[in-house]
Amino acid sequence: MKDLGYRRIFPKEIEGNLISLIADDWMLVTAGNREKFNTMTANWGGAGYLWNKPVVYVFVRPERYTYEFIESSGGFTLTFFDEKYRDALNLCGTKSGRDIDKVSETGLTPHFTELGYPAFSEANLVLECRKLYGERLSRDAFIDSEPLITHYSTKGGIHKLYIAEIVRVWVR
Ligand SMILES: Cc1cc2nc3c(=O)[nH]c(=O)nc-3n(C[C@H](O)[C@H](O)[C@H](O)COP(=O)(O)O)c2cc1C
Repeated sequence: MKDLGYRRIFPKEIEGNLISLIADDWMLVTAGNREKFNTMTANWGGAGYLWNKPVVYVFVRPERYTYEFIESSGGFTLTFFDEKYRDALNLCGTKSGRDIDKVSETGLTPHFTELGYPAFSEANLVLECRKLYGERLSRDAFIDSEPLITHYSTKGGIHKLYIAEIVRVWVR
């Protein structure tokens, strides 16, 4: 990562408002290996502190192609980009890797971290995340039924929550 111009920082040193970074700027969730990987746009999730570790949590519907890669990998990366990559993130959030090659369609440049996680060289912030916990959200657990009605009454499976330790953070 250093050869790509990145500097390693501690998770607590991440600058900016993470809620806004995730909700408004969006992120790519990328998992897999050198042979095969996939990426998708996400803007539901967060970061915090759990089990004495800095963590992220993301929500992935099982029908996403990326889901298969997250399931079969020990971890994933979250990557964040400048506004000029909005079109690329739009594409990764509306098309499936089952149907198109997202790398060639977006022009993003994949690279692999020392931990072996796929990321993109255009990102200005890379979080390498190791899975700690995964569980499908449960309809019975909703206390307020509004999100259930709004997001899970039509087509589309209920999300799986992944909590992952932030093991390395890279910025430039
Ligand atoms: C702004 C934005 C945010 C998204 N956030 C999520 C998310 O948090 N979780 C999720 O499962 N899908 C989310 N999606 C949808 C996936 O990115 C989309 O279904 C994508 O095509 C999946 O690609 P894949 O099949 O190659 O994995 C989001 C899409 C957009 C445009």
